[in-house]
Amino acid sequence: MASKKQDADKLAAAQMAVREVKAGMKLGVGSGSTLNMFVEELGRKKYPFPVVCASNATEQLAKKSGLKTTTLDELVKARKSPEEPILDLFVDGADEVDKSYNLIKGGGGALTREKIIASASSEFACIVDESKIVAKIGKYPLPIEVIPFAVSFVSSELVELGASVIQRPKFITDNGNPILDVTGLDYKDPLGLETELNNIPGVVENGIFAVRQPEKIIVAKDGKARYL
Ligand code: 5RP
Repeated sequence: MASKKQDADKLAAAQMAVREVKAGMKLGVGSGSTLNMFVEELGRKKYPFPVVCASNATEQLAKKSGLKTTTLDELVKARKSPEEPILDLFVDGADEVDKSYNLIKGGGGALTREKIIASASSEFACIVDESKIVAKIGKYPLPIEVIPFAVSFVSSELVELGASVIQRPKFITDNGNPILDVTGLDYKDPLGLETELNNIPGVVENGIFAVRQPEKIIVAKDGKARYL
């Protein structure tokens, strides 16, 4: 359970990210408690342009906060040329962040849509409290979204890589899939590991963000936010 101090840090990071948002920006938002604070702040500022949400829960909160929403499909179709960015800025939290800007995400289970939106955005700003900063990613159990048919197969492939696998209890993603929470993997090459895991047939997406790293990390400690 997050402490009051941690919540104050999350809010400070969220408020700093709101200052990154300029009028007319095509904006994507992720999910989680830190991101929720960003959405509420954006609502308070009455941001008038539609946002793309990475989860149904975020979309509900965005609407409740007075924001307009749109879909990735609509923005892709509305582009005048393939060079035009689909989204200008994606803002989201993370479960672990290292100093090389590698992330683990997916504690809330929205990793697949988050990675799609991050990949569609010119810029990705990650907002975290100090507790998320680690020397090396990999302590936090890695969420891996898997199609239901492949749960046992993917689990056995992961065990062969030396991992321990727990299927997240009573959890199905917005895409209709289970999540495996995985520990014991070797993170010496996060980019290679991200690619290797996504090459296992049946894996939809894993929560390592090394291929699409954030351009900016906003980290808050003692109620004050700064860029990493
Ligand atoms: C959800 C995520 C979240 O960004 C991550 O779990 C951090 O959440 P919180 O801000 O609540 O600590 O990746 O899929």
